Amino acid sequence: MQKTITLNEFIINQQAEIPEATGNFSRLLHHIGIAAKKVNREINKAGLVDILGRAGHENVQGEEQQKLDVYANDAFMEELQASGECCGIVSEENDEVTTFHEGLCRDAKYIVCMDPLDGSSNIDVNVSVGTIFSIYRRKSPIGQAAVLEDFLQKGSDMLAAGYIIYGSSTMLVYTTGCGVNGFTLDPSIGEFCLSHSNIKTPEAGKIYSINEGNYEKFPIGIKKYIKYCQEKDPKTSRPYTSRYIGSLVADFHRNMLKGGVFMYPPTDSHPTGKLRLLYECNPIAFIAEQAGGMAFSGDERTLDMQPEAIHQRTSFYVGSRCMVKKIHEFLDFFNNI
Ligand code: AHG
Ligand code: MN
Ligand code: MN
Repeated sequence: MQKTITLNEFIINQQAEIPEATGNFSRLLHHIGIAAKKVNREINKAGLVDILGRAGHENVQGEEQQKLDVYANDAFMEELQASGECCGIVSEENDEVTTFHEGLCRDAKYIVCMDPLDGSSNIDVNVSVGTIFSIYRRKSPIGQAAVLEDFLQKGSDMLAAGYIIYGSSTMLVYTTGCGVNGFTLDPSIGEFCLSHSNIKTPEAGKIYSINEGNYEKFPIGIKKYIKYCQEKDPKTSRPYTSRYIGSLVADFHRNMLKGGVFMYPPTDSHPTGKLRLLYECNPIAFIAEQAGGMAFSGDERTLDMQPEAIHQRTSFYVGSRCMVKKIHEFLDFFNNI
């Protein structure tokens, strides 16, 4: 029988390879795994108990919060604080930065940016949703309250990033900069077990993912690229297939495994793009690069962007290298990067 490697065992093994590791980072990841299981439990009950639908208020970005947005936010906040390793959090669902610097978290050296429930508009109809997280080392001195500068670090400074996809099975996928590994939750033992080791995305894919309902509002370069995807050319496997769920995590996860590209360009309603740099684009970009893919926003590598605000939005193009490069060419040619 094949040996089962649980997420915790994997984390401990990785830690053992770094002589100077103290175990703090491992503890943080362990608690993220616990929060993921709690959220998974609630999502699995959705429809049976009164947890679907709107919470009755908006977040700072004017988006209506779902009850599960609030539940997931609370679950991750609690576990991150309980880990004692996290001194501050930026969350899609919190207007301001949250800091912990007393008691258990007195010596904490990590900050976390997260989208507790991604694609939450899909939850009422039983479609995959996700959680996205990224971890950075704080810049401010240990023992004091974390400051804005701790959160406005470039994506290239990230220590780790991951997502949980609550789908037909629940998976936790993460990277610490040494490749990407995926763990599937085995509900019979309540553990995430290594199921996808060292994930690599195909160099060239055949799937393009974009909300084509916004077509008229896209930059000309993106309109032309969509037409390119639809043209027949057997040499380049075109026409490509269009797939769009409306959950970044689920769309990205499928494309990473099968080969494809996800696009969210600027539109009239979101002139700088819709997705949030700190807790959507940057962690997904880090995972994409670690899997051999690419990501850019505006005219630069997403991970090189200097964030200016915690809820900053940006355009986002991520996926298989050949496809992402082609999009860049189209945007460049039509001069609307
Ligand atoms: P969230 O549910 O965290 O607000 O994120 C929704 C995001 C993302 O998951 C998805 O890719 C995108 O919004 C879909 O937007 P459209 O409905 O505009 O296509
Ligand atoms: Mn989201
Ligand atoms: Mn969200």
